[in-house]
Amino acid sequence: MAENTEGQFLEPRGEQVSEAQIAVHWREEGYVPPPAVFIGQANASDPAIFERFAEEAFPECFREYADLLTWDSYWHTTLDTSNAPFWRWFVGGRLNACYNCVDRHLATDRNKAALIWVPEPESADPVAITYQELYRRVNEFAALLRDFCGLQAGDRVTLHMPMVPELPVTMLACARLGVIHSQVFGGFSGGACGHRIADSGSRVLITMDGYYRGGELTDHKVKADEAIEAALRNGQEVDKVLVWRRHPGQYASRVPMAAGRDFFVDELLARYRDQVVPPVSMPAEAPLFIMYSSGTTGRPKGCQHSTGGYLAYVAGTSRYYQDIHRDDTYWCMADIGWITGHSYIVYGPLALGTTSVIYEGVPNYPDAGRPWRIAQRLGVTIFHTSPTAIRMLRKLGPEEPNKYDCHFKHMTTVGEPIEPEVWRWYHSVVGKGEAVIVDTWWQTENGGFLGATLPALQAMKPGSCGPGVLGIYPEILDEDGNEIKAGSGRAGNICIRNPWPGIFQTIWGDPERYLETYYRKYCKNPESKDWRDWPYFANDGAVQAADGYYRILGRVDDVINVAGHRLGTKEIESAALTVEEVAEAAAVPVIDELRGRVVEMYISLKPGVAPGKEIEGKVVTAIETEIGKIARPRTVWIVADMPKTRSGKIMRRVIASVSNFTDVGDVSTLANPEIVDDIRHHVQAQKAARGEVPRQLTPEEEAEIKAFGQAE
Ligand code: WT7
Repeated sequence: MAENTEGQFLEPRGEQVSEAQIAVHWREEGYVPPPAVFIGQANASDPAIFERFAEEAFPECFREYADLLTWDSYWHTTLDTSNAPFWRWFVGGRLNACYNCVDRHLATDRNKAALIWVPEPESADPVAITYQELYRRVNEFAALLRDFCGLQAGDRVTLHMPMVPELPVTMLACARLGVIHSQVFGGFSGGACGHRIADSGSRVLITMDGYYRGGELTDHKVKADEAIEAALRNGQEVDKVLVWRRHPGQYASRVPMAAGRDFFVDELLARYRDQVVPPVSMPAEAPLFIMYSSGTTGRPKGCQHSTGGYLAYVAGTSRYYQDIHRDDTYWCMADIGWITGHSYIVYGPLALGTTSVIYEGVPNYPDAGRPWRIAQRLGVTIFHTSPTAIRMLRKLGPEEPNKYDCHFKHMTTVGEPIEPEVWRWYHSVVGKGEAVIVDTWWQTENGGFLGATLPALQAMKPGSCGPGVLGIYPEILDEDGNEIKAGSGRAGNICIRNPWPGIFQTIWGDPERYLETYYRKYCKNPESKDWRDWPYFANDGAVQAADGYYRILGRVDDVINVAGHRLGTKEIESAALTVEEVAEAAAVPVIDELRGRVVEMYISLKPGVAPGKEIEGKVVTAIETEIGKIARPRTVWIVADMPKTRSGKIMRRVIASVSNFTDVGDVSTLANPEIVDDIRHHVQAQKAARGEVPRQLTPEEEAEIKAFGQAE
């Protein structure tokens, strides 16, 4: 280990898993070629495309993506780096995102379904919304936003909506006006929504009264009231709450509508019937939306995405990597409340004029055959989901796909590494061996894919996302900024050497944090205006095999990836600390067969407080209230004290090791080493009693656990 200075991100404090062990475990999977039928129809099947996007062609190569859009005025500068690393793409250009996703398709595809919405209750039929109908709805709602709410270009609006067609209608209506939308995942709590309202400075909240999930019509409006209160506590007043109704005319919530503040959209819309609102021509650099995501510190980061660069990038990657054609029926089973849904349910597919499916509910409702029934009924040709969903559907219904006449030409995965074994089930059972699989690595900050195979031209390799996508030049750096030899299979921090059109513009209201989090670490010269001096630090660990394919190892910034979604350790801990009895809190990841990682919470109590189930329950409630059910810890462990360094820092890696039954390493330098054995006995005995002993971890997983909590 001593002579190897590379791959330090995995072992920031010396010791731990050796590179050799990782290399041994890194068993090369064989290539799987794309089916000939796929190649025959692919959007990108001529290898000349690699020359067009070669580094020498950067940044002009991205004209090809921008040319997929309709511009009101063409740009004069493809990439302006004068205020590096605040990149400006397609400067001088003007366009409207809604026009590009709706209006321009009317001439040829007016009567084609833009969206097909599948309600969760299976007794309800799917609802197809044509481009013409989408146009009408978006215009009416844009008129309402403009005339009733007084919104105009540059204003921010928070959306807290479920998976219903009213969500893309709302987003596109905002885009039509140049209003910046900030959709908060519907599963987040009212409190979490309120913080985002305040951070973005929204004075309008758009929500829905309820929606179906797991067979229940949930009360969602109740969260709006909590959000308004939380926003107010954070200094932001909301003057209007627009409430779409899941069943127009029927109110699904038990909380009253606040007079003068809350309005039913279906009632208001009557005033705007058949109104047409001209799309506002926006500069390419105008923000299109904000999407919040988690990082090392407690506050979620509002990732600000541009109009021109973002839309060009999602259109281009949808075309080449998802192979979307206008006559496809494309279904991405993600939630629009995450970046995947923004880019690859709404903006990318609609910019290309295809049919995008929106499913309201959970994949296994009422059983694990549901997605395949939907695919069969709608004739879905492209299917897109996460490894967590695949693992779950495989566990619950390994034979289900065989029962249905569904045939995909293309299937995407996103959000987490996929185990080769799970990949093979996806390929042979879900895809029936007929589909290509594209494993897409990217992040909220990125707008679109960074690492993936170009499906007709690059063979698949289970477990690897593939090389950098067109126009993206990754590199792996060690902690000191030295490049880890390309193709060496050694681990380090994956960075992107160049900017790209889909990259976020800044963190809303906090440019300093943008610089600090993504660029400070590896910037070669802070005065430089040359993009080559500003590699983008993705905060992910990765290895690159000799063939150039990357394998993503996971976050290096104390973010826990639960079911493909980022949860910040600090956010969960701050939530636990709102419970009066809690003195200290530490959240750690535990390897989980289905969800990738789950959260376990360790707390110590204030002097004189007796431990008990009641406090554990309060901690769970606090986390659900502050963040949402997605962050619910699997277990809350009450301990007498936390293992700490002499300077008082909680050693999260030690408790993470306990929770995962891995070696805690050397604890002799701790201030209270004796506590470690106490915690271990207590926690592991209880876990053993519940049958919660995990399988043998892989060396990568072990390394992740041992490095956990070191990012501060
Ligand atoms: C983190 C980003 C934008 C996609 C949805 C999640 C992990 C993402 C992969 C993949 C291995 C992946 C990374 C990344 N990740 N895709 N194909 N293979 N890991 O977006 O919430 O911003 O999370 O998800 O660790 O940094 P996000």
